[in-house]
Amino acid sequence: MSEPQIHISATKWDPTDYDRTARFVSDLGEPVLRLLGPKAGERILDLGCGDGPLTKRIAESGADVVGVDPSAEFVWAAKALGLDARVMAAEELNFRAEFDAVFSNAALHWVRGQDEMLDGVHKALKPGGRFVAEFGGKGNVERVRAALVTALARRGIDALPLDPWYFPANPEYRARLEWHGFRVADIRLIDRPTVLPRSLGDWLGTFAQSFLAPLGEEERAEVKAEVERDLAPILRNKDGVWSVDYVRLRFAATRPL
Ligand SMILES: C[S@@+](CC[C@H](N)C(=O)[O-])C[C@H]1O[C@@H](n2cnc3c(N)ncnc32)[C@H](O)[C@@H]1O
Repeated sequence: MSEPQIHISATKWDPTDYDRTARFVSDLGEPVLRLLGPKAGERILDLGCGDGPLTKRIAESGADVVGVDPSAEFVWAAKALGLDARVMAAEELNFRAEFDAVFSNAALHWVRGQDEMLDGVHKALKPGGRFVAEFGGKGNVERVRAALVTALARRGIDALPLDPWYFPANPEYRARLEWHGFRVADIRLIDRPTVLPRSLGDWLGTFAQSFLAPLGEEERAEVKAEVERDLAPILRNKDGVWSVDYVRLRFAATRPL
């Protein structure tokens, strides 16, 4: 059997910065948590658990929850909430028919090895177990991505190899889930324009590190300012509040009995 491919990400997650610029990510996880419907006594895996607020919500339902995430910094933050959190990428799952459900919020679009991951999730679930997740879908942050591509092109840099995100369309991901043996109960794309708590430049500093990686500090600041300038007319309101064009792909699937 070939070894799973683990892709080292250029993104460094800093729990303090994330709490200031990105707390909305877990705050907006409520609908997918409802779709999961965790029950007391269930064993649940939270894939890409981050610093753990949704993992904690699952634990509060009385379920026995394990969070996994490749960021050691986030796993420490999750452990500090009293959670069972482990440093592990989605491509490395090694559980066998152990979980009643696998849950994930805002993480799957960061996973480069989608097929290794889906294989690992299928094996991790008990027969009849459910896989409920939400992540970036086709069109997600399209305007921001386009402005980044343009700003890098102005400097002679091809953004394609720097792009860390996979934002699939609904039929494409349904087919991928089915190919891995899942039965898909529901899958839908949801437009969710999202108000940012801080500036778009701060958002770029948290989420678009990979695009900015080839640049020096000064040029990074220039690119952030340029993207802000290009997008202000469409994404910033008269009070200076930014709203980004998020699109989510939300699904509920099962490992058949
Ligand atoms: C935006 S955060 C979301 C965290 C959390 N699920 C939440 O809702 O707050 C994205 C998470 O995906 C994780 N991630 C990135 N690549 C991953 C991979 N290959 N496998 C699993 N998680 C990954 C990151 O480490 C990060 O914690």
